[in-house]
Amino acid sequence: MPRRHIFTAVAWPYANGPRHIGHIAGFGVPSDVFARYQRMAGERVLMVSGTDEHGTPIQVQADSEGITAAELADRYNRVIVRDLHDLGMSYDLFTRTTTRNHYAIVQEMFTALWDNGYIVERPQRSAISPSTGRTLPDRYLEGTCPICGYDGARGDQCDHCGNQLDPQDLIDPRSKINGERPTFVESSQMFLELPAFAEVLGSWLQSQTDWRPNVVNFSRRLLDDLKPRAITRDLDWGVPVPLPGWRDRPDKRIYVWFDAVIGYLSASVEWARRTGDPDAWRPWWTEGADARYFMGKDNVVFHTIIWPAILLGASGRPAGTPGAMGVLRLPSEVVSSEFLTMEGRKFSSSRAVVIYVRDVLDRYGADPLRYYLAVAGPETSDTDFTWEQFVTRNNGELVAGWGNLVHRSLSLVAKHLGAVPAAGELTEADHDILSQGSRAFASVGQALGRSQLRAGVTEAMRVVAAANKYLSDQEPWKRVGSEPDRFATIMHCALQLVADCNRLLAPVLPATADKVAAMLGGHGPFAGQPRVDEVEDLDGGRPYPVITGDYDGVAAWRSEPVVPGTPVAPPTPLFSKLDASVVDEELARLASS
Ligand code: MF3
Ligand code: ZN
Repeated sequence: MPRRHIFTAVAWPYANGPRHIGHIAGFGVPSDVFARYQRMAGERVLMVSGTDEHGTPIQVQADSEGITAAELADRYNRVIVRDLHDLGMSYDLFTRTTTRNHYAIVQEMFTALWDNGYIVERPQRSAISPSTGRTLPDRYLEGTCPICGYDGARGDQCDHCGNQLDPQDLIDPRSKINGERPTFVESSQMFLELPAFAEVLGSWLQSQTDWRPNVVNFSRRLLDDLKPRAITRDLDWGVPVPLPGWRDRPDKRIYVWFDAVIGYLSASVEWARRTGDPDAWRPWWTEGADARYFMGKDNVVFHTIIWPAILLGASGRPAGTPGAMGVLRLPSEVVSSEFLTMEGRKFSSSRAVVIYVRDVLDRYGADPLRYYLAVAGPETSDTDFTWEQFVTRNNGELVAGWGNLVHRSLSLVAKHLGAVPAAGELTEADHDILSQGSRAFASVGQALGRSQLRAGVTEAMRVVAAANKYLSDQEPWKRVGSEPDRFATIMHCALQLVADCNRLLAPVLPATADKVAAMLGGHGPFAGQPRVDEVEDLDGGRPYPVITGDYDGVAAWRSEPVVPGTPVAPPTPLFSKLDASVVDEELARLASS
């Protein structure tokens, strides 16, 4: 089978603060498990993202920290790069939206849409502060959502019901800066003509039969009421509008969501340019590729309506000619997670309902967090995170399940044999456990390839449990001296199961997988790990850190026979048992934050 091109598009975190575990439950763990699985299955994966650094999400936070938007973006870009790297996110390129390359490609796409007549200038009523005269776009304005009644809706979007809003629709609008009621003035903006795409988008969405139902249903409803959307703002932080009379205006910028989604494309191009082959991105952007987008559900409208409309219009569809980037493919699937909640409340830094990724990494390590979010994350419904469940799963499944299987298998072999033994004649129990290991590659792979993390990991852990039961039933420790051949055969089977399960779990537990592979005598890359490089901007802008990696040569997604004679060293522990007091400690931290 020819290797497929699989584009793994990961939502871009705002560079306005450290990430919390709600964020990475949505875009992080699901995308990385998917990409790692596809690489092991032999596909050509390109996985990109970066920090989202424009617009009022950044400007509002910069105001509150008393620094400029650019300084704020630099600060949190670094923080986020470090967090995502340490979480083991295997990006081919994690960049940022303030690169010159990104600016140029956003402007190319804007121009292509403009040339095809899909961008139109119109007056819009925009909010200003009566006391300061300042404009109050997007997050500078809060009020009650006219659709669902949520009180914390913002000028452009209600995070509660997911609808896009116009600032003058907010009930009881108030300035985020000083709480005052805004006045509205007319201001000229550029609009994306969404109604022109309604038909194409409708039949495209109609043909998506295997997406998660929530994503399709939500998106279809939005189609019933498509209005032109303003894609510029009265703001000085963002990508300039590439049109005569607008280009040099300091007070008009492209809307952050319009520029951010184009990041998927600009990051692909940046990745290609950095490989030395500037066209290397194209195979991931043609019809033959598979393009999966991963995000939390508040991002869905931008990925199922706005981004496809941009891609269509810039490709000359439904009418026109393709722009400078050529004809670009639509998403094959938009994979959205629901919300991770805590005590039923949405994670939120501003409301202090928050657990930061950094704290969990420092205290418990990446793999236990990845594991928890893969098996108990908000895959299909809003899901509560509890410390109690975190501790229970860590101790019961990682320590007593997988860790125990590895530890007792390897320590018996290291102590009594020192190397992988050859198998003698196999019993029915041996055959049975060996086939459970080898058959699981199909079933676990099927689930992970469909982004069904919970099902995939549960199935892999079922094999771990079966292997533990096999050892308990066979009691190899009682046969060491009395039945050396039977002992060797059992341990051969046990090591084969350790090797198989290690591959099955590698997409979820990559750091652990590398350790286990080394203890089994492996050399070279196994799961593949990202690294952080400090790079120059390709077009003369300021240097910045990127996450990248070389993932060629990762372990294959199939059972590979363990090789008799390979030395096996005594194992070191993979996971730490957490004391029940961790729950109280963490709850006390939350209460005091
Ligand atoms: N920054 C947005 C958020 O955190 C996500 C942007 S995804 C992209 O909700 F597609 F626009 F890049
Ligand atoms: Zn709402």
